[in-house]
Amino acid sequence: MKILIIGSGGREHAITWALRHTSVSDVEVYCAPGNGGIAQEARLVAISADDSAELISFVQTENIDLTFVGPEAPLSAGIVDAFESKGLPIVGPTAAAARLEGSKVFAKDFMARHGIPTALYRSADSASQALEFVRSGEFGSPDHPVVIKADGLAAGKGVVVASNRSEAETAIGNLMIDKVAGSNAADRVVIEEALSGVEASVLLFSDGRDYVLMPPARDHKRIGEGDVGPNTGGMGSITDSSILDHETMREVVSRVIEPTLAGAREEGFPFRGVLFLGLMLTATGPKLLEYNVRFGDPETQAILIRLKTDLLSIFQAIRNQNLAGLRVEWSQGASACVVAANRGYPGAYEKGALIRGLDQVTGVEVFHAGTSRSTDGSFIATGGRVLGITATAEDLKSALARCYDALDRIEWEGMQYRRDIGRRALTGSVN
Ligand SMILES: Nc1ncnc2c1ncn2[C@@H]1O[C@H](COP(=O)(O)OP(=O)(O)OP(=O)(O)O)[C@@H](O)[C@H]1O
Ligand SMILES: [Mg+2]
Repeated sequence: MKILIIGSGGREHAITWALRHTSVSDVEVYCAPGNGGIAQEARLVAISADDSAELISFVQTENIDLTFVGPEAPLSAGIVDAFESKGLPIVGPTAAAARLEGSKVFAKDFMARHGIPTALYRSADSASQALEFVRSGEFGSPDHPVVIKADGLAAGKGVVVASNRSEAETAIGNLMIDKVAGSNAADRVVIEEALSGVEASVLLFSDGRDYVLMPPARDHKRIGEGDVGPNTGGMGSITDSSILDHETMREVVSRVIEPTLAGAREEGFPFRGVLFLGLMLTATGPKLLEYNVRFGDPETQAILIRLKTDLLSIFQAIRNQNLAGLRVEWSQGASACVVAANRGYPGAYEKGALIRGLDQVTGVEVFHAGTSRSTDGSFIATGGRVLGITATAEDLKSALARCYDALDRIEWEGMQYRRDIGRRALTGSVN
């Protein structure tokens, strides 16, 4: 069985690793374009994740049996539709289903149409209209926080949680006039009521009708300890039973997951693939902040390290629409992923240092996000995020201890990581 994974980060390394480590059949894994670490598990294919024409011709030439897409951009651009139009097996949402992530306006209108609990919002297609909504007072007084979101994909740079009206006005100018999130990403924006509470991520596999939940996760977006400083792609993640109690999970299932999957079906785009719900647990119940239409990075590393069922059988069940018949098992306990990045990240960062100590670590999986491999087999830190040190254990404290023990043995010039991943979940304090 030949499988192609599209993407190049820690998420794709974890997917590749899980395919090989859970598989009961013989799998030959390819990754396009992959990275130095992924090359330990898969054959790298030098084609960009966004080049669907080249990917299609590779899949046809090599007789690849199944393709799985990691990142959002190719999904939004319609890679699944392109593969399916050629009769090539692929797992992921169509472009129509990927609008749940690719357009915040579409996602919010969809939530409203299906009665899914979310923050109050307005969408605006000009800066003047956005300013008018912010100044109208419907999102609170001038000293009240308000959230501004670019409509389109913006690689994590499109959302501003403004602490007051004047910051919100600045954010509208930055996004819509100065286009800091990209040229078209903020042609429209969503203005949103600021919610408060603890965040949780719930991911699920869906075949369009039935679904399988993954262990709830939480990520750590800010670069600095104590959740300070700029946002990153994610500096760490955990899975732990403390993230969502059973009753809240039931509410998420009945008020968010089931209406979403039913709504997508009703609207003609049954959701097949991995759906990611970004939730805020508020005083009035869980509210949906956003959809992502793919695995999160680094949530995936912490989630898949607990997977006991053959990941390939899950992918096949999504394609064959028989997820209901599959029993998916996860290891008990908890897990953590601590990301080590290059100095300067998330701004301009240093790169090119030799990573030492990888052969000294035990009890963890090291998922590579941004490395290349030299001819002598050593690894070079080439990305902003470089490694995701990931462990599972009977409880969160032990999983974190494994990650930090391993990090003590790894070093390179310019390595940085947060020492407080999972701490709030451990101490029970609110985020
Ligand atoms: N209504 C809200 N109230 C308070 N905070 C919010 C609200 N909406 C978003 N946020 C904060 O902003 C973050 C990013 O928002 P959102 O998830 O919509 O954006 P995104 O750029 O698609 O994120 P991701 O990169 O995780 O996909 C959230 O994780 C949350 O911390
Ligand atoms: Mg998102």
